[in-house]
Amino acid sequence: ANGAKRQMWTEEEFKKSMPERSRYSHKGSHGKGLAIGGSLEMPGSIAMTVSAALRTGAGLVTAATAKSAIPVVASQCMEATYLVLEETDGFISSDQPISFADYDAVVMGMGMGRHHAAQHLIRNALESAACPLIVDADGLYHLKALPALLKKRTAPVVVTPHPGEMAMLLDISVPELLQKPFACAKMFAEEYGVYVVLKGPFTIITSPHGQQTVTQTGNKGLAKGGSGDVLSGVILAMMMQEQSIMEALSNASFVHGQAADMLVANTHSVYDLMASDLLYGIPKVFRTCM
Ligand code: APR
Ligand code: MG
Repeated sequence: ANGAKRQMWTEEEFKKSMPERSRYSHKGSHGKGLAIGGSLEMPGSIAMTVSAALRTGAGLVTAATAKSAIPVVASQCMEATYLVLEETDGFISSDQPISFADYDAVVMGMGMGRHHAAQHLIRNALESAACPLIVDADGLYHLKALPALLKKRTAPVVVTPHPGEMAMLLDISVPELLQKPFACAKMFAEEYGVYVVLKGPFTIITSPHGQQTVTQTGNKGLAKGGSGDVLSGVILAMMMQEQSIMEALSNASFVHGQAADMLVANTHSVYDLMASDLLYGIPKVFRTCM
């Protein structure tokens, strides 16, 4: 019934919707983003998110992570700045208030772990961040415990589940989800008033009103831990450019998959492609598809 409302998002739509940059632009024009996540056990997650956001054109990116993870993350991302969060056993355990007003978009959850203490940050962000909030990975697990807050929030929320996480959010099985991925994503988006990026061999992007786009870029080389963290960073950057949220999400998914496709077509294979290689695929997409 809603087939007519689905739009395939390709290179053509990407080209048309990416904004030109002004000669008079400065770093503030291109967005100040915050990424919250990472831990001593998973420092690479937030490192890849932050690097991907910078590669995609974010003006400034701050990483808020567990104190002990900062040297690891900083050694990988020289352009980022840091918010030092208190930790327990290497995982974020801080309930210190973050000044969300300083940022244009926030992404959270990757590598954060599922310890209850991390839920404070998700709660704080839902309650007090007026800018768009992107929730991924372990952040989705915490979000599931806060349905009333999610419904109450009026500023934009984007969730970026893989099928396992989408099924968890909907309390259904993965086979059930995969029978009706479009309908399931729409159900969640409409019920909670959020944008849903349902990832997979093709990615379905749904608005809170049920509008849907599909991207088909990407390949089996992405079936490795970390590629989702890169996508979250690409989304963070795209959300701060001058385009609608649906355009930003569709372009992010297009760029992420196309980066993998161009690397596999030229210098890599689906066996050896690593998530961090995508950071060098993104420039190929901007140079050839824009
Ligand atoms: N074809 C095309 N794209 C793919 C394919 C494929 N066969 N497989 C994966 N992808 C893409 C998805 O569309 C998505 O953009 O790669 C990305 C994978 O994202 P995630 O599944 O979130 O992967 P990531 O978070 O990096 O790693 C898995 O999630 O289940 C948790 O804790 C688990 O650490 C693990 C993590
Ligand atoms: Mg993931």
